[in-house]
Amino acid sequence: MDYKKHIASKLNVEGVTAAEMESLIAVPPNTDLGDYALPCFRFAKTMRKSPAAIAEELKASFGADEYIEEVTVAGGYLNFRVNRKKHVAEVLSRVIKEGGNYGSSDEGNGKTVCIDYSSINIAKPFHIGHLSTTVLGAALYRLYKFRGYTAVGINHLGDYGTQFGKLIVAYRLWGDRSAVEKGGVRELMRLYVKYHEEAEKHPEMDDEARAEFKKIENGDEEANALFNFFKELTLKDVGKIYEKLNVKFDSYAGESFYNDKMAPIVEELRNKGLLTESEGAEIVDLSAYDMPPCIILRSDGASLYATRDLAAAVYRKNTYDFYKNLYVVAYQQNLHFRQIFKVLELMGKDWAKDCVHVAYGMVSMEDGAMSTRKGKVVFLEDVINKCVEKCLSVITEKNPDLPDKEKIAEQVGTGAVIFGALSSNKIKDMVFSYDKVLNFDGETGPYVQYTCARCNSVLIKGGETGGYEVKDLLPQEYDLAAHIGKFPEVIASALDKLEPSFITRYAVDLAQLYNKFYFDCKILGEEENVRNFRLALTKASLITLTNALTLLGMAVPERM
Ligand code: ARG
Repeated sequence: MDYKKHIASKLNVEGVTAAEMESLIAVPPNTDLGDYALPCFRFAKTMRKSPAAIAEELKASFGADEYIEEVTVAGGYLNFRVNRKKHVAEVLSRVIKEGGNYGSSDEGNGKTVCIDYSSINIAKPFHIGHLSTTVLGAALYRLYKFRGYTAVGINHLGDYGTQFGKLIVAYRLWGDRSAVEKGGVRELMRLYVKYHEEAEKHPEMDDEARAEFKKIENGDEEANALFNFFKELTLKDVGKIYEKLNVKFDSYAGESFYNDKMAPIVEELRNKGLLTESEGAEIVDLSAYDMPPCIILRSDGASLYATRDLAAAVYRKNTYDFYKNLYVVAYQQNLHFRQIFKVLELMGKDWAKDCVHVAYGMVSMEDGAMSTRKGKVVFLEDVINKCVEKCLSVITEKNPDLPDKEKIAEQVGTGAVIFGALSSNKIKDMVFSYDKVLNFDGETGPYVQYTCARCNSVLIKGGETGGYEVKDLLPQEYDLAAHIGKFPEVIASALDKLEPSFITRYAVDLAQLYNKFYFDCKILGEEENVRNFRLALTKASLITLTNALTLLGMAVPERM
């Protein structure tokens, strides 16, 4: 039930459309006077009456209503109180009927959204800094699908650059196949670090590295075999983490995929008169837009990160005919994406406006660790494992007889990391704290999951239930049901603002409301109608919490 729309449709003021009226209706922070309010001050001029008189007039014409129980005038405001029993009855039956689809829609049918997220670099560690892009992107991916869009998840692999030449040199000098197979990215990193130490003493190594990289580019079999070995190894390593985090991609077309797709772009830029020469390099001058130039080709003719992104954007448009093209990338790359989008616009691509940089803040550890350059890398895998271990020890202590402890610890520990990463506004820098994300009583994943387990246990104990009639409501019951009723709106605005944090916030509030209801209201010992109603409320809470957590990529354990 869309109350604002309903109310607006019954209020006629000359010169004010139904849509305008709807936008004027507000939800007051304090619902003592009503659930919706219309300020009438705006109409005083055209209607030539006092706002209070207008409110009285509108009240009289509104008349009796099935959904609105009471209309009152307070000063220049017209207040509406919804028929709470009816509202609660409708919310519960809808949620229970729709189940896993509650909150979904088909608004996106026929529209495709490309989402570039995680986009890791080959032979580099998957560290805590990649957490946000990975879980944010994956949440947006699921959200879009939930709302009917076709989503294309793209891992734009960083698989191009002279560093791969260096790695080959290092591997030939000090590497060993079985050690690399066993050690994975950590072993590759060790080789890479050693290369840099040695290259300082022997700068001629860099020439060798450049030559090896050229070989990769020219399709040399041996060099490519090694490069592909590094690539597969990295993907296997990160694959384990993607699996833990429940993250999937439809495409792994990375930077090297565009090797043969840049020449036409450069041609097009040249033909459109957008390229200028600067110190031997070819650039697009963006000074008119207060930006440094976008370098397209270096003086040695090599392409750049930006050149590949231009080719990738065009490729995505041609391949997927996207409605929106998203890049979930840290705010450090703000300028890069502004430049790319501007160049696309200058090339006359009208879809440049559909490209969006979904920027997010930095993650650091409480102890200050996290600097790739200083080698102080915090592997995401280690962080997840530590959370799982900590959960296992909490569960073992509090509920030693719980069957499937390891699996549940895995679900809760990983969930804690995901929920923690999505808990605040995405653009905010974040300090990752084990104690904070794992606090079972805080605003955390484990707290919400625990509430789900509580609902489950109530429902199991309750067994089969019959029908009920919604009678007088306690505030705990109404507040809970009304919050459940808001889920579809919250999902819609989370997508609109590209903010999965709206969902974590919502889930915490819902869990708190459920727990308040649970502690204040008896369920199983009550007479049949009350008991059935409260069990239905429990069921609707569980469905809604489950849908929220599933969208975030978390599992919902039945017991904890
Ligand atoms: N691999 C890049 C990095 O780690 C991120 C790539 C983002 N996607 C893109 N299309 N530029 O910084």
